[in-house]
Formats: sequence, C-alpha cells, structure tokens
Amino acid sequence: MRTQVGIVGAGPAGLLLAHLLHRRGIDTVVLERQSREHVERRIRAGVLEQGTVDLLTAVGLADRLRRERMIHRGLEVLFDGVGHRIPLAELTGRELTIYGQHELVKDLVAARLDTGRPLLFEAPAVGCADLDSSAPVVHFELDGAARLLECDLIAGCDGFHGVCRPAVPQSVLTEFHRDYPYAWLGILAEAPPSSEELIYAQHERGFALHSMRTPKITRLYLQVTPDEDIAAWPDERIWAELRTRLARHDPAWQLADGPVLDKAVTALRSVVTEPMQFGRLFLAGDSAHIVPATGAKGLNLAVADVAVLATAIEDWYATGSTQLLGAYSRTCLTRVWRVQHFSWWMTSMLHKAPDGDPFTARLQRAALRQLAGSEAAARAFAENYVGLPLTGGPNDSP
Ligand code: FAD
Ligand code: DHB
Repeated sequence: MRTQVGIVGAGPAGLLLAHLLHRRGIDTVVLERQSREHVERRIRAGVLEQGTVDLLTAVGLADRLRRERMIHRGLEVLFDGVGHRIPLAELTGRELTIYGQHELVKDLVAARLDTGRPLLFEAPAVGCADLDSSAPVVHFELDGAARLLECDLIAGCDGFHGVCRPAVPQSVLTEFHRDYPYAWLGILAEAPPSSEELIYAQHERGFALHSMRTPKITRLYLQVTPDEDIAAWPDERIWAELRTRLARHDPAWQLADGPVLDKAVTALRSVVTEPMQFGRLFLAGDSAHIVPATGAKGLNLAVADVAVLATAIEDWYATGSTQLLGAYSRTCLTRVWRVQHFSWWMTSMLHKAPDGDPFTARLQRAALRQLAGSEAAARAFAENYVGLPLTGGPNDSP
C-alpha cells in the first residue's frame, strides 16, 4: 500500500489531520489499532477551546457540534465552601464549548468515511522504519496478515502508548516528565448538571470537578491515588464523596445524582518529547506530550499540533521547501510548554498533597484567594484556560 502521508492512530489528532490534508488535495491512509465502536465510545475530554471550534467550523466539521454543544462563558472555583466565578468570556472575549470527545471522534470518522479514502480499523501499526530516508514505511497488521504502508511522510498520532515514538533512536529524543501522586476517578452520569458552569473544587479531602456533557448528562471527577482500586468505589461511595467535596455553605445547592454510565481512573502526568520530529516522522498530540487533565488541554493541544502540521505539509508539497516542516517541532513546543506550565500550576493549586503538608495547603489557599480577588490574576488564568489562538505559520516560532 502506498500513500503520501501515513497516519498512525484515529484519535482526534490523526482523524483531523487526515481531514485537513484531504481538503488540501493530499492523500493519506489512517491506521487504527482499535475497532470503530471502541474509538467512538471512549469517554475522555469534553472542553473545547474556541480556537479548536473555529478550526473545526472552518473545515466543515462542526455542524452537529454547533447544534448540540453547550457554550460556557465562565467557570467557578470553589474553596472553603464558597464559589467564586471567573467570567472567562468577559475577561478574554472568548468562550468555551462543551462537547464530548467521543462525539467529536464520531463526527471525524463520519467525515473521513465520506471521502472514501482509507481509514482502517483493527489495523495496528507494529513499527515504523527508514524514517531518515525519503521513503519511510509503516509495518502494520490487517486481518492477521503483515502489511506495509509506503509513505512520503509519517504522522505519529498514536497516543502515548503507540509505536511511532519508540521507533525513533533513543539518542535523538529527550523526554521531560513529571509524575504526580494524583489520579482522577471520572464518572459519566445520567443526571442533570447541578450548575450551569464547571466547578473546580479544592477541598481538604481532595480535589473534585463538576462538569457536564448535555442538559441530562453530568461528568464528575474525584482526586484519588494513582494505584486506586476502582472496585473500592461503588457508586454510593462516589456520590457521597462528591457531595462532601462539592458542598458549599449555601444550603440551597444540591448535587443531583443518577445512574453511572461510565467509570474510570486516569493518572495525572506531564510528559514532553523533544523534538517532535525525526527525519520524516512527525509526532502529534498525546504521542508527543501528555498534560495533567486539570486544565482540560490534552485534546486542544492535539488539535493545535495538527493545524501546524497540515500547513507545513501542504507547503512542502507545494513549494518543496522544508522551512515550515523544519519549524514544526519548535512551533508546537512553544504552545506545549505554555500549556504544560498552566496545567501543572492548576494541578498544584487544586490537589491535596498526599502527605497533607500544611505549608502546601496554605500556599494553595493564597493562590486561590488571589485568583478570586484579583482581576489581573483572573485574567491571566482566563487567557490560559480559554487558550491561545491557533496558528499554522512559522512566525510564532521562538
Ligand atoms: P488519542 O486520542 O489517544 O488517539 C490515539 C489513537 O491511536 C487511538 O485511537 C489509539 O487506539 C491509536 N493507536 C495507538 N497505538 C496504535 C498502533 N500501534 N497502531 C494504530 N493505532 C494505534 N483530556 C482532557 O482534556 N480531559 C479529560 O478528562 C481527559 N481524560 C482522558 C482520559 C484518558 C483515559 C486518556 C488516555 C486521556 C484523557 N484526556 C483528557 C486527554 C485527551 O483525551 C487526549 O489528549 C486526546 O485524546 C489526544 O488525542 P490524540 O489523537 O493525540 O490521542
Ligand atoms: C473535563 C475534563 C477536564 O480535564 C477538565 O479540566 C474539565 C472538564 C470534562 O471531561 O468535562
């Protein structure tokens, strides 16, 4: 099999890249290890930056999203039993969209299938080779048989546990990482949201987050330990803990509950791989970097990467110049590190340290008070939370 750009992974990064390149007349083959049902049911992120939505809209991928989404213009930070609203839209002129990642993936899969170009499910890549030649290849399996995909370029969009990043010689890549002693137990529940906006709660028992998907579906998270046994968390225990951590002095506020539709534990960590390119392999999204979930940035960062990559690939085919492709890693890493810092900062401010260190707790309280009481602090937070504008060009590189 031969194509111009071989894309490994049909998550948001791989599917959106395929779409952006198709619109620019560039042929791709997308290989996905899992089944279509699996990727369309995987419950993950839900907060889309305006830049992400603007890009999806510009390339015709946002029709259902714009009909079904919820628009948020602020969020609440809750500590000491009192909620403080951060008016994100007022402070930045930008708003957020709430739309489940798996719904977006469904839209992206449908758009790809409409083009008639290959999107192969249950087709795991097992390795990439000849990355520093002009004819890189992806080895993959289809129906149990070994197959070869010959490409001009490979896009490694295969997430953190994929095969593309490990195909790069170890001496070339530097991995920067930080593990946190925290994980999130996330549930999706058939219950109406108990607030119109997200609530990020700092509590002496640990962090909690109230989010949502639709007027009938709530998404909630609790800070737990990374080795937490999910079996120790029957639904009643989860609801009781959420009620405690989200409680406020206002007795009128109640957390609505309902049947739990999905339950999973996700560890928080920060990882950045530098550079995001080796020869003709370009890493995008989670295959290159992971952010702790607190800032809701993982999906948006994946979209930002492929926006830059699509423009660079188009320019390379059109002009033969490697200027933009050569700047890809540098361009993306500027945003990646800004987002890493924000996600690390937000994570540090909101989670209970496992040793319960009182000094840390007082620093967190000081940071939260500043966020609630200073417009300058709220504005800096809001700019990061709503996200930087998307770029596709070289002018933003350092
Ligand atoms: P992915 O969505 O991981 O897609 C990679 C794709 O590659 C997958 O479909 C995978 O099956 C496929 N693949 C892997 N290996 C191979 C192979 N060898 N061959 C072919 N295909 C392969 N972010 C938030 O902002 N909020 C959240 O609440 C949140 N929750 C998360 C929960 C979990 C369990 C995880 C893993 C991530 C979560 N994230 C969250 C992060 C966000 O979902 C990711 O940043 C986003 O999915 C990145 O998109 P991606 O396309 O780069 O990677
Ligand atoms: C959601 C996830 C996040 O990581 C976050 O910070 C806010 C909301 C969500 O799944 O809705």
